[in-house]
Amino acid sequence: MTEQPTEIATDAPAEGTEAPKKLFIKTYGCQMNVYDSERMAEALGAKGYVTTEVAEEADMVLLNTCHIREKAAEKVYSDLGRLRPLKQAKPDLKIGVAGCVAQAEGEEILRRMPLVDLVVGPQSYHRLPEMVEAKGKVIDTDFPEEDKFDHLPKRKALRGPTAFLTVQEGCDKFCAFCVVPYTRGAEVSRPAARLLAEARDLVSRGVREITLLGQNVNGYHGAGDGGTWGLGRLIREMAAIDGLDRLRYTTSHPNDMDDDLIAAHAEVPQLMPYLHLPVQSGSDRILKAMNRKHTAEQYLRLIERIRAARPDILLSSDFIVGFPGETDADFEATMDLIRAVGFGAAFSFKYSARPGTPAAEKPELPAELCDARLQALQALITEQQRAVQVAMVGREVGVLYEKPGRLPGQMVGKSDHLHAVHVADSLGKPGDLVRVRITASAPNSLAGEPLRG
Ligand code: 5AD
Ligand code: SF4
Repeated sequence: MTEQPTEIATDAPAEGTEAPKKLFIKTYGCQMNVYDSERMAEALGAKGYVTTEVAEEADMVLLNTCHIREKAAEKVYSDLGRLRPLKQAKPDLKIGVAGCVAQAEGEEILRRMPLVDLVVGPQSYHRLPEMVEAKGKVIDTDFPEEDKFDHLPKRKALRGPTAFLTVQEGCDKFCAFCVVPYTRGAEVSRPAARLLAEARDLVSRGVREITLLGQNVNGYHGAGDGGTWGLGRLIREMAAIDGLDRLRYTTSHPNDMDDDLIAAHAEVPQLMPYLHLPVQSGSDRILKAMNRKHTAEQYLRLIERIRAARPDILLSSDFIVGFPGETDADFEATMDLIRAVGFGAAFSFKYSARPGTPAAEKPELPAELCDARLQALQALITEQQRAVQVAMVGREVGVLYEKPGRLPGQMVGKSDHLHAVHVADSLGKPGDLVRVRITASAPNSLAGEPLRG
C-alpha cells in the first residue's frame, strides 16, 4: 500500500518497444545497499532502463541511501540539492530516493526536496517498476508481508567473479545507538532452498565467491529441509555447490556465533579465514548502556573459540567512540580490548545521535574529546593492520582476480584474508583463483607473484 495518493499506470507500453531509458544509481552505505541497487537496476531493466555511470545523461536518478549516521543521511540532501540544475534542464527527469533515509524520513524528503518524485523504502523495491510509471509524487515505505526478492526479476547476464547474496534482513537486537531495527525492520530470513538456487544461478554466470549478507547475518534462521537452518548449515550446503570456491558472511553479532557456525570455520575449506565481528566498545559499562548484551570478557572468550577453530582467521570489528557517558577509563578499556585481540582491520566511528533511538535522549560528549579518541583508536588499529599485513609477506595465499591492475601485466584481487593483492601475472584474467606468494606490503594492499605450474 502506498502512503500518498498516486496514480499507477496500468497501460504501460509493451516491454522493449521504446528506446532504452537511462538509469543512474548512487549507492551509499553498506554492502546490502550494493546488493539492493543491483536488484533495483534489474527490476527497472524490465521497464526498459539501462544503467549509466553519467548522471547528466540519465532519465532517472536513484539515490540508494544510508541513515546509520547523521553525516551519511545529510549527504543525501546535499546530493539532491546538486541535482537541481539537472532537473531544471530536463523536467522529465525522475528522481528517486531509496534505502534507509527513505524509510526513516519518508514524506519529510518530499517536503524538504520538492524535486524528488519517488521515495521507496528497502522492503518495497519490487514495487519500483510500477512506481516509476506513476504520475505525480509517490511514496512507499511499507513492510509488506511478501518477500520482495520473490517479485524481483531474475538476473541473467554473465557477471564478475564475486557477488553478494542477501540471506537475512533486519535486526531484533536494538542496540541503543542504532537505527537499523527501525529502518530495516524485524529479522526476516529467506528460505534456504531459494538461496541455494540463487547461489547456483550466480555460479552458472561466472561467480566464484559469494558473500552472504544480513544486518545480523549469523542470526540467520531460514526454513530448510527438515526444519530451521542456522547460518552454519546454510554455509555447509552452499559449499557443496560445484564451482563455488569461496564463501564469506557479514555482519555478525557476537551473541549469535553458535557452535555450528564456529565449527564451520574449521570444517568448510570454502569458508574464508576472515570474520567481521563488531564489538563497539571494550567497556562493560558502555556495552551495557549500548544494550549489546555481552561483556568484553565474553567477546574475548568467543574470539579464543573462533581462533581455536581457525587459527589463521583475520578478525575485524566496528567501534564507536564517544557514546554518551563514555569516560577516559571506558575508552581505555576499548583500547585494551583491541590490544588483546589484535585486529587485521576495523571500522571506527564517532557516536552520532540518531532520532528515535534510546541513546539519542542522553547528553553528548564534547566533539573534541570524540575526535581525539577516534584518532587514538584509529592509530592503534592502523598499527595492528600494518603488522598483520607485514606478517603476510613470504606466505602463500589464494587470490581471486577481479580486474586488471594499473600496471601492464598486473591483476588485482582479494586474498583469502580479504587483503587487496596486486599480482604481476601477465597470464591472469578476472575469475582466476591463483596461489600467490606475498612479496611486499604497502599501506593498504599487498603485492605478490603467482605460483604457477
Ligand atoms: N553512531 C555511530 N556509529 C554507528 N554505528 C551504528 N549506529 C551508529 C551511530 N548512531 C556503527 C556501528 C555499526 C556500524 C555499521 O555503524 O559500529 O556496527
Ligand atoms: Fe544495529 Fe547491528 Fe545492533 Fe542490529 S546488532 S541494532 S544492526 S548495531
